[in-house]
Amino acid sequence: MSRWSRRRFLGTSAAALCAGCTGSDEPAVLSGSSRELAETPTIPPPGPGLLPFGQPIDVGSIDDGRDAADGSPLFVAEARAWLVAVDPADVEALLADLDDRLHDGLRVGLLALSQRCPHLGCRVPFCESSGWFECPCHGSRYTLHGEHRAGPGPRGMDAHPILIDADRVLVDAGTVIDGPALGSVVVDRPAAGPHCVEPAER
Ligand code: FES
Repeated sequence: MSRWSRRRFLGTSAAALCAGCTGSDEPAVLSGSSRELAETPTIPPPGPGLLPFGQPIDVGSIDDGRDAADGSPLFVAEARAWLVAVDPADVEALLADLDDRLHDGLRVGLLALSQRCPHLGCRVPFCESSGWFECPCHGSRYTLHGEHRAGPGPRGMDAHPILIDADRVLVDAGTVIDGPALGSVVVDRPAAGPHCVEPAER
């Protein structure tokens, strides 16, 4: 199987994503084939002994990475992160606003977002119908680039630097960069379709 095969990175149902969630304010998770959350693998939430990761994770060549993440983000299990292919039209705005440590990745059209929701740490899946990341625990919604748009999340999704070594893409999963501040709008693009979850009250 190819290193970039999507099947390798996908596993359990969205219902299993709420590890570590507390409280009763869970959102309704919409159902239906067009609204199903992308699946993520069964991995325990990060905690003592599991993080930080060691060396940056080599996830393939630049071209392979962009191809694999094109259309829908690719879940990289080893990095516990989503690899996003950035539209060339959005690169300039992201370079102007996001942390310098994300620039090497952006210059080759890639962004690595942590799977951990910045609210309470649930694993955030990708909602195929909206084209956003949507947390099933309390309904926070994040754009393709991880900007917060709804729900109790305190900021956008955190990111990891992407290092480029020749034509190889390495995700530095041990370095976590806080997501964009609440209310910031770097790339203003509406959801592509129906959302997968409804936000809980803040
Ligand atoms: S953990 Fe609460 S919205 Fe994601």
